[in-house]
Amino acid sequence: MVEKLEEPKKVFVKTYGCQMNVYDSNRMEDALEQDGYERTANMEEADLVLLNTCHIREKAAEKVYSEVGRIRKLKERRADTNRPMTIGITGCVAQAEGAEIMKRAKAVDLVAGPQTYHRIADIVNRAEQGEKPVETEFEIEEKFAKLPVATHKQVQARGVASFLTVQEGCDKFCTFCVVPYTRGAEVSRSVNQIIDEARGMVDAGVREVTLLGQNVNAWHGVGEDGREWGLGELLHGLASMEGLERLRYTTSHPVDMDESLINAHRELDCLMPYLHLPIQAGSDKILKAMNRHHTVSDYMHIIERMREARPDMAISGDFIVGFPGETDEDFEETLKVVRAVKYASAFSFKYSTRPGTPGADMENQVPEEVKSERLRQLQDLLNEQQVEFNRTCIGRKMDILLEKKGRREGQLIGRSPWLQSVIVDDMLGKPGDIIHVEITDAAPNSLNAVAAQKET
Ligand code: SAH
Ligand code: SF4
Ligand code: F3S
Repeated sequence: MVEKLEEPKKVFVKTYGCQMNVYDSNRMEDALEQDGYERTANMEEADLVLLNTCHIREKAAEKVYSEVGRIRKLKERRADTNRPMTIGITGCVAQAEGAEIMKRAKAVDLVAGPQTYHRIADIVNRAEQGEKPVETEFEIEEKFAKLPVATHKQVQARGVASFLTVQEGCDKFCTFCVVPYTRGAEVSRSVNQIIDEARGMVDAGVREVTLLGQNVNAWHGVGEDGREWGLGELLHGLASMEGLERLRYTTSHPVDMDESLINAHRELDCLMPYLHLPIQAGSDKILKAMNRHHTVSDYMHIIERMREARPDMAISGDFIVGFPGETDEDFEETLKVVRAVKYASAFSFKYSTRPGTPGADMENQVPEEVKSERLRQLQDLLNEQQVEFNRTCIGRKMDILLEKKGRREGQLIGRSPWLQSVIVDDMLGKPGDIIHVEITDAAPNSLNAVAAQKET
């Protein structure tokens, strides 16, 4: 007699890397749930473990193999039961390394790149039958057309702020970066698809949507009025949706920053005054070697226009230190940019050579100790600026979107327009409410606030 499984199979997804991977993990979970799986937050009890991986830096990619090593032990313990464990690698490492992954980590049962997720249920099924599928085709248009729509319950389980991918892939080929190879060419989703997905989210209680793209401001499409839209017009189109209180977008590239996007910040109250605009390095020589297609002065000019459109605009960015050929003088120019811009927050990294990218073959690689020292200096400055930015919020009144319960009884955590976490103490509402508060205290990574009267 064949023994039947009594409980539905359980899936555990672990997400590495960027926000797009978070969005992708959600979509895969939705698809698998609609295929009969149940989600679990506990890897030990999972029948299917998916690692949704990131290839951006060497460390990120290597993490995956040590994690598989750990999961293999769980899998071995289950080998003789009627509930074997299936291990899958998805995401950018899957795309970049493909079948190599299975050679290096024998416990892996399936490999699926980012453009195959509309078939994830089928791929998993084949893996469970003992086939070892490796799927790395680029089928992006099909993916978005075929991925199942999330149910209200699925959206609700994730809270009141959601990511929504509008653009994927990259044609920029910065010389340090793997993304054009792992995500493929730049593709924009259609206005209809985006509006439908946003409406589904809002109907299920989402109040804030962050539009995602590797180059989100390169998004373009035919609008509801039959004309060609850019991101600025898309934001206008979404802003009129009832119930959608806040809009954000990330990540932008300086080259694609156009007038209509800058104007959208002037015209739309629901568009949050926050711009994540990476410059990577502050020397024109290095920007050229990175193939960024803009100068430091182009970048500074965009920041200036943004702040003119929205004086309270907060700026965030990404930096790479120790790109091949970067001298002390070049690095000094990066610090100069940081001092001039005054960032509200930022990410900074040591340059990591990535196989297959032009940077990997460049001469004048910078020694590791030099990179470490530069990173320390840069991060000291950026941390100082973040603390300063938060400190200047003390005494200020602002609207925050309540997102979830805090650690202590009665506490709630909300989000300021500038993406800061704001802790309020006396149950001033419920998740999804936008409340008016006054900031009373600031730490490096959060603010505290009390209820405030709105001035009329
Ligand atoms: N599309 C975005 C960023 C994608 S990757 C953009 O164009 O800005 C996120 C960040 O990782 C990059 O902004 C960069 O700062 C960093 N990064 C990318 N490749 C890297 C590498 N090889 N070494 C170190 N940092 C890297
Ligand atoms: Fe990578 Fe550059 Fe494309 Fe950003 S713009 S994803 S850094 S290649
Ligand atoms: Fe990483 Fe891929 Fe995102 S390499 S940063 S997960 S696009």
